[in-house]
Amino acid sequence: MTAEPARSVDDAAAGTGSGAGVPRHVAIIMDGNGRWAQRRGLPRIAGHRKGIEAARSVVKAAGALGIEVLTLYAFSSENWSRPAAEIADLMDLLRRFIRKELEALAGEGIRIRVIGDYQAFEPDVVELIDGAIARTADNSKATLVVALNYGSQSEITQAMRAIAHDVAQGRADAADITASTIDSRLSTNGLPPLDLLIRTSGECRLSNFLLWQAAYAELYFTDTLWPDFDEQALRDAVGDFARRERRYGGL
Ligand code: FPP
Repeated sequence: MTAEPARSVDDAAAGTGSGAGVPRHVAIIMDGNGRWAQRRGLPRIAGHRKGIEAARSVVKAAGALGIEVLTLYAFSSENWSRPAAEIADLMDLLRRFIRKELEALAGEGIRIRVIGDYQAFEPDVVELIDGAIARTADNSKATLVVALNYGSQSEITQAMRAIAHDVAQGRADAADITASTIDSRLSTNGLPPLDLLIRTSGECRLSNFLLWQAAYAELYFTDTLWPDFDEQALRDAVGDFARRERRYGGL
């Protein structure tokens, strides 16, 4: 068997060559902000600040590559265990990010969607988030999903509870429950299946992120710390994805 020539992102975008092509849905665990700052003798918040800039440019790059949905893990339900001052800094960054970037994102045709229990945030942050969702609701060029106070096990638990409730009330039959029943109860309902899951900073775990949705996702781990992850880094990840053979359990 002759080896297929390596397929570039541009080939993938043009729909030429073999392999998986451009992913429709990419999710990123943006890890390594703290270490980026530490290595420079800076406070952790400096790493988060730089991390926000990286997120902004990756959103742009994803659109240019033709990625339909980009899901970013910005705050996990486990992040509450961080020092209060760091949580406050993250919330401030979130406030500033929405105020500064919302109009530009809206102008770029990006629809903002949030997964996770962001209602637990300060009321003014909740209001800003709701405003961002409403402001971009009619956009359809690409979707930016931000995971805020998100935890996959809790999301799946809530879905199971809702389904169990339906069965108990006689609205559903347990025998009819399928994977799509569960899909439809998750916060990612209606989004294309997750194709590619990226984690930066050298850690190789999922950390309670999109556990159900990642069933057939391709995983990509890079040592690059999140603040250093740029357009080229995204192109490298997408290029790697484009060369993969996806078999979904088949041959
Ligand atoms: C991981 O770095 C990063 C996060 C805690 C989340 C990502 C956050 C941003 C990109 C900033 C924007 C966040 C919000 C809420 C708007 P880390 O601190 O775990 O890095 P380390 O593992 O090197 O300590």
